[in-house]
Amino acid sequence: MPPSLDYSPFATTYKDRADYVPAVVDALLRVAGMRQGDLICDIGAGSGHLTEPLLQRGFSVDAVEPTAAMRRLGEQRTHGYPQVRWYDGKGEASGRESDTYALVTFGSSFNLTDRARALAETARVLRESGYFACLWNHRVLEDPLQARIEELIHDRIPGYSYGMRRTDQTDVIVRSGLFETPVALSGTQVFRLPSRAWCDAWASHSTLGQQAGSGFAGLVDEIRDLVRAEAGDWIDVPYTTRAWVARLVRDGKDARR
Ligand SMILES: C[S@@+](CC[C@H](N)C(=O)[O-])C[C@H]1O[C@@H](n2cnc3c(N)ncnc32)[C@H](O)[C@@H]1O
Repeated sequence: MPPSLDYSPFATTYKDRADYVPAVVDALLRVAGMRQGDLICDIGAGSGHLTEPLLQRGFSVDAVEPTAAMRRLGEQRTHGYPQVRWYDGKGEASGRESDTYALVTFGSSFNLTDRARALAETARVLRESGYFACLWNHRVLEDPLQARIEELIHDRIPGYSYGMRRTDQTDVIVRSGLFETPVALSGTQVFRLPSRAWCDAWASHSTLGQQAGSGFAGLVDEIRDLVRAEAGDWIDVPYTTRAWVARLVRDGKDARR
């Protein structure tokens, strides 16, 4: 079972999260052979963290998002772009037309779906030889300050699990029988971010929120205290963006008919 569909409790601070490493977004688009103006379906688009970089690079994007509060933020963030449309829908049932997209992306959202069903739905809406991509941003836990935050989290939540978002996606993609073996991409960049906003964004960390339960707000406060003691107004946070990009198999459309 995917962990949660309703992202409303995490919506307000989500916009403060770090961007995906731009070089990885570029590489993903290159692997998928994308050309200016191609149509992308961005699923679980949330507040537009991936949608906007895709728009900035000249693509048209149909953004699909099941949580109304997140969708509103995404619509606000991208309202200046004429080539975006927002829809209610989810990975397993996007509501989009068949045989339409050159690329379907899941930015930090594939782990929230029933992945086999989301892959089948992706194959349905993709054009012949289209591409699937999923990606996540991972804090580099070896960074000294991040290591201390990890220590705190593991101390407060014994058995804390990173869930599916830090696992290799190759198997589930190949097992679907719908996609070729994915190309795995990764790149690391240090982001200089306002400390306060970075701490606030912990409140949008659904993996932590679900495991911390009623202790979530207290734990976010403890992280805030630690950052206040260790960093100034700005914090340098290294993130690794990891992506898996896979082409629809030659008879992928036929297999589903
Ligand atoms: C961690 S946010 C990622 C938002 C954005 N794509 C990004 O890159 O930052 C995950 C998003 O997936 C959405 N979501 C939850 N369940 C989903 C599902 N079954 N299919 C698609 N999206 C889902 C949530 O509402 C949330 O907006």
